[in-house]
Amino acid sequence: MNAEESVELEQLMFVEDPVDGDEPRVHPAWLPPEAFRSLGARRVLVHGDGLLVDTVLHEVSRACARYGGRVWHSPSWDVDVDLVLALRGADELPNPAVQAARAAAAALIEGADGERLGDEGFLLARAGDVTVVLADAPAGLLYGLFHVVRLCAAAFDPARPAERHRPALRRRMLNHWDNVAVHPVMGQVERGYAGGSIFWQDGRARGDLARVREYGRLLASCGVNAISVNNVNVARTEALLLTERLGDVAEIADVLRPYGIRVHLSVSFAAPVVLGGLPTADPFDPAVRAWWAATTRRVYERIPDFGGYLVKADSEGQPGPFTYGRDHADGANLLAEALAPHGGVVHWRAFVYNHHQDWRDRSTDRARAAYDHFAPLDGRFRTNVVVQVKFGPVDFQTREPVSPVLAAMPATRLAVELQVTQEYTGQQRHVCHLGPWWSEVLRFAPWGPGGRTIADVVTGETAAGGGLVAVANVGDDVFWTGHPLAQANLYTFGRLAWDPRRDPTEILDEWITLTFPPSATADAELVRRTLHEIMDDSWRTYERYTAPLGVGFMVNPGDHYGPGVDGYEYTRWGTYHFADRDGVGVDRSRASGTGFAGQYPPYWAQVYESVESCPDELLLFFHHVPYGHVLHSGSTVIQHIYDTHFAGVEEVRAMRRRWQTLHGMIDPSVYERVAERLDEQVRCATEWRDQINTYFFRKSGVPDGRGRRIY
Ligand code: GCU
Repeated sequence: MNAEESVELEQLMFVEDPVDGDEPRVHPAWLPPEAFRSLGARRVLVHGDGLLVDTVLHEVSRACARYGGRVWHSPSWDVDVDLVLALRGADELPNPAVQAARAAAAALIEGADGERLGDEGFLLARAGDVTVVLADAPAGLLYGLFHVVRLCAAAFDPARPAERHRPALRRRMLNHWDNVAVHPVMGQVERGYAGGSIFWQDGRARGDLARVREYGRLLASCGVNAISVNNVNVARTEALLLTERLGDVAEIADVLRPYGIRVHLSVSFAAPVVLGGLPTADPFDPAVRAWWAATTRRVYERIPDFGGYLVKADSEGQPGPFTYGRDHADGANLLAEALAPHGGVVHWRAFVYNHHQDWRDRSTDRARAAYDHFAPLDGRFRTNVVVQVKFGPVDFQTREPVSPVLAAMPATRLAVELQVTQEYTGQQRHVCHLGPWWSEVLRFAPWGPGGRTIADVVTGETAAGGGLVAVANVGDDVFWTGHPLAQANLYTFGRLAWDPRRDPTEILDEWITLTFPPSATADAELVRRTLHEIMDDSWRTYERYTAPLGVGFMVNPGDHYGPGVDGYEYTRWGTYHFADRDGVGVDRSRASGTGFAGQYPPYWAQVYESVESCPDELLLFFHHVPYGHVLHSGSTVIQHIYDTHFAGVEEVRAMRRRWQTLHGMIDPSVYERVAERLDEQVRCATEWRDQINTYFFRKSGVPDGRGRRIY
């Protein structure tokens, strides 16, 4: 950029106000204008070129226009600045302060074992009076900018030591279960609790690209860099996104590209038949391979940075390689072969089980299925296949053990799949902050305490792990997520995917500071404390008033909301609790049960095998025990059920009382929406308590030791 252009840019930024007409039409989530106050009041120099550098420039300009700061893009004259955001390889500038800042920062990087920043990393350091963000690539600069936003004034603290940041995981991905056409049962968004889809409506693209852009900005600011835009259950209309309707996908990709987000597509394994008119989709058929190769080439012609495919195969009615007598490595490798020349990746889901089980048959165990299907295939997947494994062996329950598949495939790239959308955790009507749960999963050491963790597995020894993936929770709701506090789950997912070892409470604190900026409220400390009190332990609270001790699935069939203790007990879905007059739980031991416990490496196989060593919170997942069985906590199983259910409801009532103290302190629309949802949470938790307690009282005949009311 030459001097004239810089001047023009500067004029543009101060003559026009880019904020006008640029207001988000929805709740700004964790990026309200106020969160940019500290940055926006500074003198900022951006140096470098590229699409994402333009995004940085746009963000800084917007903030400075609002809060009185100034911005220069690669000026050819000397300027006094507070903040430099520069690409390391960009040209020399005739600005001594900037050069000094860059040199000091560069020395810091080189001093650190010559470790590179990579294509997404950045360095933040103080050099004299200036804060410097250096990156090797434009995406790093964008992430560095959002880091400055998060730090607020602390980014300009003269005593701030230098920091280097790089994402631990290369792919940090959200899967949208959005349908293009409204599904007769599942609606526009399968398991969506935030209104319609931001991408699709009634069979076509919504065309509201401004909203998609705003979404991209939110995702980039928390570190997400990939999304799939359609449901893993791929019906006819959605299958067409790969071919006839590819233009719609390309438009989304165009809008997300400036935020460093790559677009992926869920595809049907039967696409060669359904779309290509071939008689088979057999992975060994040359015509099928040619069809995938040609189709994929056309995708890349249209979307050069296309991420790849996501596949749910041979699962819950979706087509797959089993039809042709092939296994899942054959299936995944077929698509991987088509994507490889273009640098794309296949995310192949391990969620494969028999959904036509007979409840009378106690030998078939759905928890075993993913391991039984996939562990024997270790080493057979191409390097651009990522096997995507749900975090637990069953299905996103409030409490499950960590999936043993994650410890069974050392020669395969593995991704963990989480569920940000709260299908089984209150459906965004309940406050249920999932960060602590995900963190527990990521810190779990499947080979025994002190050993490698799930975070290590998804990172990979050489950073070739599969990454972290989650089912998204946003929709066209004005608050994005239905429940405004559910925004924190999305934010936390992104931040944990960037660094899976981070403390979730600290992440929540970041989210609170951004979403409810201290400068915008009368009593910032009260707001922060109250939100922590409500949210920190809310997942455990949810666990207390729902299915006990890891047994899971006591939900209403179909919509999965609210208590339905026997809802799934006599169905084909393989999710049973086996409660009778004497006891409850599923025997998954090797000695007398389904043998699932034996799928773990020795340490945990042994711990889970015995009733004595199995942790309380998973007892009914692994064992069928009498109601009088004494837990490690000292309580009997039946008394534990009563106590936790009474306590859970009290905790929800306390949440509601705490929230009321924020009346008048925060945005009234947020206040009202949360208040309304807390009323529903109290109602629903009470229903859970009474149904669960009554059910177990009637089954067992054991009265509550504390004489409380059971119906
Ligand atoms: C759950 C969910 C389904 C979804 C499935 C999946 O079973 O209820 O709606 O399709 O998970 O992960 O594919």
